[in-house]
Amino acid sequence: MRRLSPILLLIFVWRVGASTAERQCPPIITNVSHDALTISVVMDGEEKEMQLTYGDGKKASPWKIESTDSKELGPKVFIHKFRITDLKASVEYPYNVAGFESKFRASPSDSAAEVLFLFGGDYTMPSDEGIKKLEEQLKKQVDFFVDLGDHLTNRRLWGKSVDWVGRVPVMLARGNHDNDPKYTRDKEQIQKYLDFPDPSLDYSLEWGPVMLRAEDVPGYSKPYSKEELQAIEKAYTDTKCPWKFYACHHIFFSDGPHGHQEFEEGGKKIAEGVLRRQQLWPIFKKQNVKFALNGHDHLYQRTSFIDGEGKLDPLGTMNVTFGGIQKTFNGKSEWSAFQLTNGTAQLAYVLVKGNEATLRLIQNDGTVIDEAVVKLK
Ligand SMILES: [Fe+2]
Repeated sequence: MRRLSPILLLIFVWRVGASTAERQCPPIITNVSHDALTISVVMDGEEKEMQLTYGDGKKASPWKIESTDSKELGPKVFIHKFRITDLKASVEYPYNVAGFESKFRASPSDSAAEVLFLFGGDYTMPSDEGIKKLEEQLKKQVDFFVDLGDHLTNRRLWGKSVDWVGRVPVMLARGNHDNDPKYTRDKEQIQKYLDFPDPSLDYSLEWGPVMLRAEDVPGYSKPYSKEELQAIEKAYTDTKCPWKFYACHHIFFSDGPHGHQEFEEGGKKIAEGVLRRQQLWPIFKKQNVKFALNGHDHLYQRTSFIDGEGKLDPLGTMNVTFGGIQKTFNGKSEWSAFQLTNGTAQLAYVLVKGNEATLRLIQNDGTVIDEAVVKLK
């Protein structure tokens, strides 16, 4: 038998190395409840199966892997999903998947726990550096991220640039582009990249004292049905969490292009958001929902605490639109408390401490651009 020359051997090793699976984006944690979540990772390569280990795999895992699911999204592209259950409150779980080491923390059961969550949609995306600085400044880890939709259409946003999604759970309020099959990622359906609660995309997250309802809105021009409104109200009635939030992609109060877009409803023209806020604000007031968050318009705008007509109401709800920073607004409505027309701010968060919640828009260096504080009555 002929011996392989050293050069051929080197080429052989190089080729084998080249076929090894490569991570396309960081593992993403979704579908979170108080004792369960899903980790998904997308890989280039030929490996049809992937292992998830607790830490480096040397210790027995204290969690239960309820299911693993690997699907071929396209030629040599696989998504691997791991459904993990039996998590213990507030415990930190180191893990390794596809050579990516990270750790997540399970939701606290303590209703007095401090909760810090980020939010944003469209053209926002916190950087690893920005989150690290924020955590150092507040001496508190980010608990979860509320994705206000349309991030999935933009590969660079969920791409290799951010690793924090490997440790910070993501709650998605799906956007119009996330629903649209024409917006695909390398010819695969974008939706497959994350594990959404199924079959409905309307779901609640409870994390210590915070309950957040994420809604897949009916679309640009459709009002909520009676059944949908009942389901939303029931979610707030059922929770024991004192702090209640609402998140969706579409507009309530915005002076951006979408906020002023009109559509036909019952033979009349109505601005997008007007009908929706008239439908939801009475529920929010009754249920003491303090903040409603949305994306869609690529700007930052915040109201005061208002009623569904936009009039000041100390017992009302504050609306924040955060879909990026855009240079043009179509004016400034009376209900507008703050609007940002230009800038570099990419981090918006809510910090809940006892009976007080603070909302802030900051720059990556921690400079506060906008702040609002509310106490629970
Ligand atoms: Fe949108």
